[in-house]
Amino acid sequence: MDVLKVKNLNKNYKKKASVLKDITFQIKKGICVGLVGESGCGKSTLARCILGIESIDSGEIVLFNTLLDQNKDMGSLRKHVQAVFQNPTSSLNPKLKIKDSLLDPFIQFESQIQLRHLNYQNQEQFVRDLLDMVDLPSRMANAYPHELSGGQKQRVAIARAISIEPALLLLDEPTASLDVFSQNQFLKLLEQLRVELELSYLFISHDLAAVHMISQQIMVMKEGSIVDSFNKEALLLNSRNSYTKELISVFEE
Ligand SMILES: Nc1ncnc2c1ncn2[C@@H]1O[C@H](COP(=O)(O)OP(=O)(O)OP(=O)(O)O)[C@@H](O)[C@H]1O
Ligand SMILES: [Mg+2]
Repeated sequence: MDVLKVKNLNKNYKKKASVLKDITFQIKKGICVGLVGESGCGKSTLARCILGIESIDSGEIVLFNTLLDQNKDMGSLRKHVQAVFQNPTSSLNPKLKIKDSLLDPFIQFESQIQLRHLNYQNQEQFVRDLLDMVDLPSRMANAYPHELSGGQKQRVAIARAISIEPALLLLDEPTASLDVFSQNQFLKLLEQLRVELELSYLFISHDLAAVHMISQQIMVMKEGSIVDSFNKEALLLNSRNSYTKELISVFEE
């Protein structure tokens, strides 16, 4: 089953040449699709269009067989899509304790969702379970964001995003602020959660190694177009697009 279908999507910002050109792809349930491409090629713009916070000029975005209507907000579909961005500091409200940030989406969508894997008994237990899922100690529930490291904050951002068991998680450079060791730990955690909760991911990065580590399928974007798309096992095949080969050679240096 396709969780997300994007068809012939085009997007321009005012006074700018095309930013996204005829983008078409699908994400199946439980699969991580990686999107790799150089800075400025349009990756975050695509994520913002899927989230409905950026309008599109033409094309279709279909979530669970429901066409996103650009004239309305995402309404009831919003609970199915969550996002984690590059900068964990700006994604957590500095005035809220971690437990309150964690509970925010759940409280917002409680009446509309049915948890299938997580178990909500009471707030305290739920917060403990969420922290435990991302390997953080339960005492962090009462901390404020400034008391946590970047990697810890990014784990909180993940815990918050998965708390309502969204079908699709958009991960836009989530490891960019982490050191290499934390990056690896974080990617392993994402992989484990994807399998446990049957989540689908769109994992965006300019880091081909990270994309290769976590994705089952990889799309390569260049100047707003998807120029190559393949199963990860096919990364090193000779049939790859010349731009993909260029990206690989940069990583091999
Ligand atoms: N709000 C905006 N208004 C006008 N132009 C924008 C806006 N946001 C992005 N752009 C332009 O659209 C293009 C794509 O930007 P986008 O942020 O999607 O790139 P990206 O692939 O995510 O890059 P990075 O890897 O650096 O995050 C860039 O040329 C950028 O300057
Ligand atoms: Mg970006």
